[in-house]
Amino acid sequence: KTTEPTIFIIFGGTGDLTKRKIMPALYNLFLANWLPENFAIIGSSSSKMTAEKYQQELLEAVNEFSRSGKTKKEDWAKFASHIGFQDADLTNAGAFKPFGKIIEQFKREWNQTPSLIYYCAVAPHFFCTIAENISKAKLENNPETTRIIIEKPFGTDLESAKELNRKLLNIFEEKQIYRIDHYLGKEVVQNIMAFRFANSIMEPLWNRNHVEHVQISVTEQIGIGTRGKYFEGAGILRDMIQNHLLQLLCIIAMEPPTSFKANEVRDRKVDVLKAMRKIESGKIESMAVRGQYSSGWVEGEEVLGYREEENVDPNSNTETYAALKLHIDNWRWQGVPFYLRTGKRLFKSASVITIQFKEIPHNIFVSADSGVPKQNRLVISIQPDMAIRFQLQSKVPGLEMNLNTVDVVFDYADNKKSDSPEAYETLLLDAIVGDQTLFMRADQVEAAWELIMPILNYWEKNNAQNFPNYSADSWGPENAEALIAKDGYHWFSLPDSNKKK
Ligand code: BG6
Repeated sequence: KTTEPTIFIIFGGTGDLTKRKIMPALYNLFLANWLPENFAIIGSSSSKMTAEKYQQELLEAVNEFSRSGKTKKEDWAKFASHIGFQDADLTNAGAFKPFGKIIEQFKREWNQTPSLIYYCAVAPHFFCTIAENISKAKLENNPETTRIIIEKPFGTDLESAKELNRKLLNIFEEKQIYRIDHYLGKEVVQNIMAFRFANSIMEPLWNRNHVEHVQISVTEQIGIGTRGKYFEGAGILRDMIQNHLLQLLCIIAMEPPTSFKANEVRDRKVDVLKAMRKIESGKIESMAVRGQYSSGWVEGEEVLGYREEENVDPNSNTETYAALKLHIDNWRWQGVPFYLRTGKRLFKSASVITIQFKEIPHNIFVSADSGVPKQNRLVISIQPDMAIRFQLQSKVPGLEMNLNTVDVVFDYADNKKSDSPEAYETLLLDAIVGDQTLFMRADQVEAAWELIMPILNYWEKNNAQNFPNYSADSWGPENAEALIAKDGYHWFSLPDSNKKK
């Protein structure tokens, strides 16, 4: 918690991100008493409106999207008294001047230098324009107290990511730039660090001597919906793997940092990306699979195929599914394959990491009816089910020596205190207090692009011959099964939601 006064200036203040994520998160932080006494939120967009009208729009959004449900009248009134509005044309530096006045006014009122957060909740091509206009309009930019938040995508390839970093770093220092990958704010994802580095029994097992392979699955039931235009230029490799899935991989594979300081943790993650085996263009067919969904039925409703979606080319070559096999060339992980898969319009929505341990070296239970003991697994369920399960072998109670699999479970649904915050609550609070641990550093972003560039280039040059190749509501294309089956494994089934318990 911080007592430092804080000003949020949100560019894109009437947009989707602000309404769905940022405002509900700020409101929940306010309710839980995490915000300082002196804070102000100034929303901005190109249209003119009064603060009252803006507050009303936000109220409707928070009622709809907040995890804490409908707002209470008096709570909202208190929160809304901190919200103002200033219209501005983002492309015009002159239009930024009023923000300077607003900042000065709060400084005088509070009699202190506040933390100042510029939040770019706008399309990525505006990030640099906003930064440049902040600079041209001479708005406050104090390396110790001013921060800027941007959201993925950070570039569309390695070159554009480097250029974005270069331009932002002309105006802000790295310690001022907060690049959000919202997966890092998810409760279970944060717990992986605690699980690995706050227990002494994990690390001895966490390596090539004991781990056979790792699977990271982020499957989604939703289709592209209204995002066709964006997705046509992106594809799932850029949209999900370059950021979310590779970050999950880094947290699983990183060496123990010497402290929980932001740069220590991020250094160790970058080490993983640097140790990843380079993907040779001649080998792409054998380690990367792409897919695109056709129409199908989801829960009794017919849904469109990707090529029929709004703003999508009827001959689109864009992938909505990808599966990869990756290797990390270091002492800890040599020889342990990491399989990643993600896609839209799949059978179920679930984000799960499974670590499969090696077979026992010798089976003494040869006469047991249940046959060979199953391999141990650690199943980390990020969403919608939130749990960490150790799958162990155990004797079935009875007169015979038979074995079955039991789960030793840490289930968030069993934990009364686990009214887990949304990723954005965690991340926004961290930005307020100035903790960059869960934010992406420039070199992390670039290293992730560098890794996937050969696949992006190859896929761009070589159109998929068989698109669409999986139907909505399936588990993706058949060759994704083959990718893992040829190594003798299969994709594990994913747990259901535990929300209803
Ligand atoms: C976003 C992607 O970053 O993450 C979306 O752009 C995707 O395509 C979303 O649907 C998934 O996030 P979550 O938190 O719903 O798993």
